[in-house]
Amino acid sequence: MSKITEKIRYVGVNDHETTLFEGLWPLPYGVSYNSYLIIDKENALIDTVDARFKDKFIENIRKHVGASPINYLIINHMEPDHSSSVSAVMELWPDITILASSRAVPMLTGYYGISAEKIRTVGDGDSLSLGETVLSFHMTPMVHWPETMMTWDESEKTLFSGDAFGTFGIPGTGITDSDLEDLGPYRDEMIRYYSNIVGKYGNTVQAAMKKLSALEIKRICSTHGPVWEKLAADVAGLYGKLSRYEAEPGVCIAYGSMYGNTAEAALCLSKELTKAGVPNAIHPLCTENISDALRDVFKYNTIAIGSPTYNGGIFPPAETFMKAISARNVKGRKFVAFGSYSWAAASVKLLAEQAQSLGFELIGLPEETPGSQSGGISFPHAYSPEKCDMKALAEIIRKSAGLA
Ligand code: FEO
Repeated sequence: MSKITEKIRYVGVNDHETTLFEGLWPLPYGVSYNSYLIIDKENALIDTVDARFKDKFIENIRKHVGASPINYLIINHMEPDHSSSVSAVMELWPDITILASSRAVPMLTGYYGISAEKIRTVGDGDSLSLGETVLSFHMTPMVHWPETMMTWDESEKTLFSGDAFGTFGIPGTGITDSDLEDLGPYRDEMIRYYSNIVGKYGNTVQAAMKKLSALEIKRICSTHGPVWEKLAADVAGLYGKLSRYEAEPGVCIAYGSMYGNTAEAALCLSKELTKAGVPNAIHPLCTENISDALRDVFKYNTIAIGSPTYNGGIFPPAETFMKAISARNVKGRKFVAFGSYSWAAASVKLLAEQAQSLGFELIGLPEETPGSQSGGISFPHAYSPEKCDMKALAEIIRKSAGLA
């Protein structure tokens, strides 16, 4: 069902072909590129889809408008997963007027050769009347590109939000969330999407949410995933928490291991945390894409990183992961490191220093415990509970995570 309301139609497409979104992030459940059509005296399209799906996209539009023209194309976001069918749209409807923020203009020219005179630049609070429908435009830069804006339909109380409030995964056949009791599996996929794609921009997401807080939003039409109606408040609440870097008690354990010793310590920590009733998720960084581990950094309030000492430094997969955390400006986490070494311990110390520079609170075992050092535990050679007491560490984490 692509009729969201009498005036708002869904004309997006599902992508089950792409394996890595942005060439980086796995898509086990696919992804949708959502585009919306507003039908009125004049018709407006809001965003397009990835050009690989342009034929299906045009077919979807034709089902609703037949031979009638599309008068306006509103560009909320220029990333090519939403803009690369602009040329196809312009070919079919050459008289169409494009509306976009000023920052989008050079991108439209640069990506698609569209000249500036074809584009009507809109600013904060500008509006467009289609007949009965009046759309207004709200600049929300850096959510998550500089040109991003959102479009508001007052009569339908509907926010066309671009990537904000989007998720990996595809909408169900009904497009809206009407058949969902709660976010269910979309919750983890939304956190993964947010942490992977938007995570760096918590402050600008917060600024956008503040700006939109006066709107009485009944429906959120984002560019990825279902249209949120019943769960719109839940989704807004989750985005609010994520953009404030708020997390729930639990541990993201991420480790790299050369010969299995640090891996054994990681598994032992996970087991002890589970026994102590602490939610945790374990991620082997040598074999797994960092996408899920980043999701759990945003989900849980404690990060535990395992890394052997490698060339006198941090094992590269663990170093890359720390870099990804730092690049997302993650705040307010508790942190512990652990790892084996062969002749000189360095990785735990270096990881703890990096964590400290990010403002994380270091946790660890009492000083007298073997291997204990500020921000973690180092152990020589093979793992054993005597050299690295994960039971004691799990108990300390349980208390610091705020679990009774
Ligand atoms: Fe879905 Fe930022 O593009």
